[in-house]
Amino acid sequence: MIIQELQERRAIRNYETTEVPNETIEALLEAATWAPNDRMREPWNFYVIKGEAKKRYEILAEQYLLERFPTKPNLIESSLEVVKSTPLLIVVAADQIPEDADASEDNVYAVCCAIHSMWLAAKELGLGFVWRTRGVGLVRDERLYQFIGAPENKKIIGTVFAGYPKELKEATPKKRASITEKTVWL
Ligand SMILES: Cc1cc2nc3c(=O)[nH]c(=O)nc-3n(C[C@H](O)[C@H](O)[C@H](O)COP(=O)(O)O)c2cc1C
Repeated sequence: MIIQELQERRAIRNYETTEVPNETIEALLEAATWAPNDRMREPWNFYVIKGEAKKRYEILAEQYLLERFPTKPNLIESSLEVVKSTPLLIVVAADQIPEDADASEDNVYAVCCAIHSMWLAAKELGLGFVWRTRGVGLVRDERLYQFIGAPENKKIIGTVFAGYPKELKEATPKKRASITEKTVWL
């Protein structure tokens, strides 16, 4: 069952504009908190962006796109459309411990596990889901830190885009390389 769920998990990027109810969002976040994490530091932090906040995110994304791609108006328009048509965004950040680089790194790993748990839970909740770091995910843009309230000692790991899926064609699996190419038996 679990192996089948892993095989059927997909990055879904096109959604209906229907709002995702808060109870569903809470179920998604709750699922994330069961992820493994070193010494039970539970290092995850979630910033839910919907409604009015998403309108502000759209402005931020537009600023980023205009700066990054000044000569590509079509790319700006299509990228912005992605944000506009996504009903729910969640920025996920990991606690960082200034005096402990190893623990900070482990916190990042735990948050990656948490995002993957959300991804699997999203499918069960009927949601399409994609973890974004590049482009309008804005993960490496200082302005996203300001947007979420400039919290101290947090590292943004991903911006999750989610909503009720529009196109089933996205559910087609992408082929994976054989484990023989990726494995050394010592
Ligand atoms: C760390 C990470 C960052 C990603 N960033 C992006 C992104 O910025 N934009 C995007 O469209 N997809 C992003 N993805 C989704 C991948 O493109 C997707 O998982 C990959 O194409 C495999 O497809 P699948 O998830 O349907 O198996 C990201 C995935 C991961 C794990």
